[in-house]
Amino acid sequence: MRILVIGSGAREHALVNALAHGNGAGNDVHAAPGNPGMTAATCHPDIHTTEQIVGLCRDLSVDLVVVGPEVPLVEGLADILRAEGIDVFGPSKSAARIEGSKAFAKDVMAKAGVATARAEQITEERDVDEVLSHFEAPYVVKDDGLAAGKGVVVTEDLQAAKAHAHEVLAAGNPVLVESFLDGPEISLFCLVDGETVVPLLPAQDHKRVGDNDEGPNTGGMGAYAPLPWVSQDNVDRIVNDVVRPVAKQMVAQGDPYSGLLYAGLAWGKKGPAVVEFNCRFGDPETQSVLALFGSDLSEYLLATAQNRLSEMGPITWKPGYAVTVVLAAEGYPEHPIKGDPITGAEGTLHAGTAVVDGQLVSNGGRVLSVVGLGETLEEARATAYEQISRIELRGSHYRTDIGRKAAEGKLSVQ
Ligand code: GLY
Repeated sequence: MRILVIGSGAREHALVNALAHGNGAGNDVHAAPGNPGMTAATCHPDIHTTEQIVGLCRDLSVDLVVVGPEVPLVEGLADILRAEGIDVFGPSKSAARIEGSKAFAKDVMAKAGVATARAEQITEERDVDEVLSHFEAPYVVKDDGLAAGKGVVVTEDLQAAKAHAHEVLAAGNPVLVESFLDGPEISLFCLVDGETVVPLLPAQDHKRVGDNDEGPNTGGMGAYAPLPWVSQDNVDRIVNDVVRPVAKQMVAQGDPYSGLLYAGLAWGKKGPAVVEFNCRFGDPETQSVLALFGSDLSEYLLATAQNRLSEMGPITWKPGYAVTVVLAAEGYPEHPIKGDPITGAEGTLHAGTAVVDGQLVSNGGRVLSVVGLGETLEEARATAYEQISRIELRGSHYRTDIGRKAAEGKLSVQ
């Protein structure tokens, strides 16, 4: 199969590797624009616009396009490719509103009877104090647009909550204030084709920049899968109570979903509640989840794209655990420093890298992902941390506690 992966991050790097080398796969994989680490794919670094992507699909006669990031999906890339007769893994513009418009997502969840946080939107600076007075600490204040995970502030400090709301409004975006959802977070990725829902392994992201969940939110500093504290019954409950009702509602209202539906949940005293939905694979959870995918990923993504996911057999998973640790540039997430040389990056997944005069250099906030495998979560952590310790990038930093609470048995669902 000839497959084009759209995107350039570590998530897309993991997709490329799984599609090129995955069990049973002998695929010709291309990536646009791709990144310098994607040796398993032919990269097309000059391809960025929708017109260029359509032209490349025609030139290559691709069998399948897999869209990594949310922005092209929210802008309607999947619709444009489908209109050209190309099979695409990724939802339509209309269905991608589940991530692109929080108001749309809340409406779908309300109609589907799915538990989620109470929310109010603010569009005027003069309403900030009034709306925040309807909520209690910790305050959850979100940029109500696509902010790559960095638009969320969760704080006990009312003044900090107000300051973030004013900052987002000043940038021209609406603000969403939400009630805080208690309980450990779970990312459950599901292949969704209309009403057919196939869950992947549950994973957990670590969104704050520092150990013990300190410091500002980031795009994600590390993840592990599966979750030893989440049983198959728990996964089935998330599918039955959350994902399938949403998939059914989207079919019923004429926005059928096709692609990867990412349910970000908090499991508190009342069970799983939705923090957010995303319309694509998550980063960095994908790096861990796909490292354990034991079937031919390309067949599942193609079947989803061709509305025949229900015909596929169960996915095989490799035993053990995968831990992903993200190496971030100095200054990330506020002001990442770029252009510094990197050594020891062999075997890692690239995100913010470039090659300048033959030297690999940093070129973004999250620079590399390292994935460690092990029979136990502790072993997978040890493998990942041994590998990341060999990378040299001046001023870089990473969390040292990815998966630690779970390995120590400190997490559970109620
Ligand atoms: N893991 C967070 C995200 O992909 O949005």
